[in-house]
Amino acid sequence: MNKEEARKKIDELTDILNEHNHKYYVLDNPEITDYEYDTMLNELSNLEEKFPELMREDSPTQRVGGEALLAFTQVEHSVPMLSLSNSYNKEDLIDFDRSIRKLIGEKIEYVLEPKIDGLSVNLKYEKGKFVQGATRGNGVVGEDITRNLRTVKTIPLKLKEEIDIEVRGEVYIPREKFTKLNQIQAEKGETIFANPRNAAAGSLRQLDPKIAAKRNLNIFVFNIQRMGNISIHKHTEGFEYLRRLGFKTSNYEVCQSIEEVIDQCEKWSKKRSSLSYEIDGLVIKVNDLSQREALGTRSKSPRWAIAYKFPAEQQKTQVKDIVVQVGRTGALTPTAELEPVRVAGSVISRATLHNEDYIKEKDIRIGDTVIIEKAGDVIPAVVRVVLEERKGEEKPFEMPTTCPICNEETFRLEGEAVTRCMNAACPAQLRRGLIHFVSRDAMNIDGLGESIVTLLLENDLIKDCADLYTLKKEDLLPLERMGEKSAQNLIDAIEKSKKNDVERVIFGLGIKLVGARAAKLLADEFKSLDGLMKASEEEITAVNEIGHKMAESVVAFFKEDRNLEIVEKLRVAGVNMESLHTSNEQDENSEKKFEGLTFVLTGTLEKYKRSEAKKIIESLGGRVSGSVSKKTSYVLAGAEAGSKLDKANQLGVAVISEDEFEKMI
Ligand code: IVH
Repeated sequence: MNKEEARKKIDELTDILNEHNHKYYVLDNPEITDYEYDTMLNELSNLEEKFPELMREDSPTQRVGGEALLAFTQVEHSVPMLSLSNSYNKEDLIDFDRSIRKLIGEKIEYVLEPKIDGLSVNLKYEKGKFVQGATRGNGVVGEDITRNLRTVKTIPLKLKEEIDIEVRGEVYIPREKFTKLNQIQAEKGETIFANPRNAAAGSLRQLDPKIAAKRNLNIFVFNIQRMGNISIHKHTEGFEYLRRLGFKTSNYEVCQSIEEVIDQCEKWSKKRSSLSYEIDGLVIKVNDLSQREALGTRSKSPRWAIAYKFPAEQQKTQVKDIVVQVGRTGALTPTAELEPVRVAGSVISRATLHNEDYIKEKDIRIGDTVIIEKAGDVIPAVVRVVLEERKGEEKPFEMPTTCPICNEETFRLEGEAVTRCMNAACPAQLRRGLIHFVSRDAMNIDGLGESIVTLLLENDLIKDCADLYTLKKEDLLPLERMGEKSAQNLIDAIEKSKKNDVERVIFGLGIKLVGARAAKLLADEFKSLDGLMKASEEEITAVNEIGHKMAESVVAFFKEDRNLEIVEKLRVAGVNMESLHTSNEQDENSEKKFEGLTFVLTGTLEKYKRSEAKKIIESLGGRVSGSVSKKTSYVLAGAEAGSKLDKANQLGVAVISEDEFEKMI
């Protein structure tokens, strides 16, 4: 075959195969057998091998993924990828409709779509060719995952028209494929994904597109983000157009009133479990595009759409055991080990029981049948015990009077809900403390994680974090699975961490109550570790956002001989003890990340006084309210949280722990 004949054949096969690909994956309506398809694909692949310069960019042979990348690059979205405000019940939806009608005073037609539980992506086409795909990221900047997205069979590589367009959709893994994927992962001894959403996100964030290609990813496209001058007046017309171009679009229902929307919400919540894909709610959108324009958007979400979140899902399961974990600060946390059960798309086998009082109040015993609850990303919780199923053999839980790790006596201080092991040399605390020191937000020592820290401790190579800096390659070589190269990499990573800003050292030391943000504020204020060590309680409290409890903890930390010794060892090892920031940078970094968010504080907070938490929220642009409503963005719940927590669960408002709050700030 000469080159011209090959070009013709390659073009012909590429077009025919792409057409069949579309019929099979997008339209679910195959016209040829798998055998016929594979025969043509083989023929194309052989020709492309002989004439690589003739291979087309949209060749179906390219869906298997090419070379692995070293890292993803950042992409700035040309149109911000907004998110949605949430609703949880009929009343919320009526409010939404009322507010829209108040603004534009017209009859509104709504479109209702399933809210797919996957990963939001932006697909960019130039002259009909797929040129770039990106994650949502923070809505403004995402990551370029084009090569992984090219492996998704329902994403057309070439559109039916040669136009410039950007569309948005949700990449997901169908339920059945998800179950299979986890079976394969388990056989290979690899990560088991908690839910289809994590599996989809994890697959798209693989640097090797060959992995993504094997994950059976799929997409529903639900929005035209940007396009040339094509006249489309309704969202549903947009859907028809997207289908004509070759996209697989969301399913939808058109509703003439909010009452119809409410009926559909009920119908969809009933058929939710029979769908082949996971959904966590529905999205309600104004259909008319000029009405949408009149309504406009808020900073993060459009006024013309709202998500309707399904209520938290409950399941019955059994408490197999209650185990106690010892944290970095010595806190003993009881955790229920559950008979694994699927709730809201995830397999749940553990739930935190917080503390002794929580268990007593709910009277949770080992062997009990319990109702657990989970909504979306929220941590699973034990709601109640099914007393009718109690047989009498269940064992009440006793908080251990000695630490399960070091056997020293445990204490519960007056007014505190937490029981603690006070032994600063407790191996559990030491191990957790070291894991914290090397972690990403602290000293960020690449390649040094939980397993190597454990090995170093077990082999008596380190007794505290400062010992890491005197390790030599020869010390590491005898360790399990430690080759010449990885030992050297580890030594290099430890060496590199010496140059870190002092804020990482302050956070890494693990001073009780001092999170990453507080460490940064302290470093900015006192400029060095010495500066902080010399500061009085009053001077520390004077720092904006730093409260009294935290200041007290910092001063107490630097009074302990053992801690002073560690600081000295770090200094001698050459670890940087100074702040590397200029004051300008600090100003630029102070963002208003809580703008538009309302928080409700409840229960006993361990790390902050209520007034301090309030000060922090407000300094970041947020608001604190005294009561929970559907407008509440987050409920920050400490120990022994009562009715406000119940209300939040009832309304489906996100509940966060102090740790999660710290991460957010
Ligand atoms: S519309 C401006 N429609 O839900 C348009 N979003 O909480 C905003 N999602 O990040 C999104 N299915 O990734 C829309 N049919 C659907 C959706 C959907 C899933 C996701 C989307 C977004 C999140 C909003």
